[in-house]
Amino acid sequence: MKNIIILGSTGTIGESTLEVIRRGKDRFRVFGIACRRRKDILAEQIKEFRPEYVYLERKDAGFEKKFSGIRFLYGAGGMEEMVQMKKADIIVCAIPGISTLKATIAAVKQGKTLGLATKEILVAAGHIIIPLVRKHHACILPVDSEHNAVFQALEGVRERDIHRIYLTASGGPFGGRPPAGRVKLEDVLKHPVWKMGRKITVDSATMMNKAFEIIEAHYLFGMPADKIDVLIHPEAVIHGMVELKDGTIKAVLSVPDMKLPIKFVLDYPHRNEMSWQKIDFARINNLTLFPADRNSVWFSLAIRAIKEKGSFPVVLNAANEEAVNLFLEGKIEFNDILNILQEVLSDCKVQKEVLVDDIFRIHEQARQDVRKLAGV
Ligand SMILES: NC(=O)c1ccc[n+]([C@@H]2O[C@H](COP(=O)([O-])OP(=O)(O)OC[C@H]3O[C@@H](n4cnc5c(N)ncnc54)[C@H](OP(=O)(O)O)[C@@H]3O)[C@@H](O)[C@H]2O)c1
Repeated sequence: MKNIIILGSTGTIGESTLEVIRRGKDRFRVFGIACRRRKDILAEQIKEFRPEYVYLERKDAGFEKKFSGIRFLYGAGGMEEMVQMKKADIIVCAIPGISTLKATIAAVKQGKTLGLATKEILVAAGHIIIPLVRKHHACILPVDSEHNAVFQALEGVRERDIHRIYLTASGGPFGGRPPAGRVKLEDVLKHPVWKMGRKITVDSATMMNKAFEIIEAHYLFGMPADKIDVLIHPEAVIHGMVELKDGTIKAVLSVPDMKLPIKFVLDYPHRNEMSWQKIDFARINNLTLFPADRNSVWFSLAIRAIKEKGSFPVVLNAANEEAVNLFLEGKIEFNDILNILQEVLSDCKVQKEVLVDDIFRIHEQARQDVRKLAGV
């Protein structure tokens, strides 16, 4: 029986993880769950899964009183305490942004296995996390469907035989190209394939989600920027590919459902039966694949982040987070997001050495710079 902690249990990935656990009760047990605000959903999850630990950002004695026999933890220290528990076998990290950075580092230092959905952590702190993973014999299993596919395609492949990796992109609601003119929030949030949280859905529409995935792939698979390519693939059936030096390409296909990569991570290194939808080739008429433009704003920013490192990716992530917030609050237009990023980053004086505390400081500064630029 594996004990699972879910950081972000009330979110899209969190709920999909609980569904996988629900269908694999013989193998998985919910050990700890964490969320921020949605206590109605949290209460249902506590009743159904009876975790040993529940984390909330802020103390709520009234809520806590309703559940006897469960230990509540609060604040940054509480999350760090939970992920270090000896009994925790896998920690699914699914809280957007970098707020779980310290908890992630604490888990890595305990040599834990992480099911990593939160790409922002590797974008801002991959240079810190990956060496720590090696040092403490921890393990990162990618939940992001593209990286999960590449991870699977790389199984049994020698490092020296890898030529290139391909991440696919559905292209979001605008087919991977920025739309001309004004765009309504509801159109941005209408992702044609994936049901996801609001932040990542906006990132998919601007393609910044793919930019972050390029950086994530760089850290996870040790690939230089020129060996990571993106293919626009609206059907979202092929999730990732690895090209070997002899020209052979290994691809991983499945229906677009996050429960599959999550199940892979929870079961790893074993495989178990699954009861949900499988690909029906009789219903697939066509698979479209075409290369994304490496000169587009989002691709160029990703390449620069990999090459420059230091504070550049931290600023990129923070500026994007703030610009997306402002768009969601109706304070800027959709097309302002990439314009703001370009402007903030064109002025960015890159600090080469960046430690954990620097990340939080640089993150806050970049958010303020965006607000100033947007005039809010
Ligand atoms: N959704 C996908 O298909 C997908 C695919 C690949 C990667 N990812 C990545 O996975 C992460 C989660 O995405 P999502 O779509 O699941 O997001 P989401 O639906 O917005 O859910 C976010 C979760 O994080 C919790 N949370 C937010 N801030 C918190 C804090 N400070 N302390 C504790 N809990 C906090 C939320 O709690 P409340 O509900 O209480 O606010 C919620 O449970 C993101 O980094 C995203 O890029 C997602």
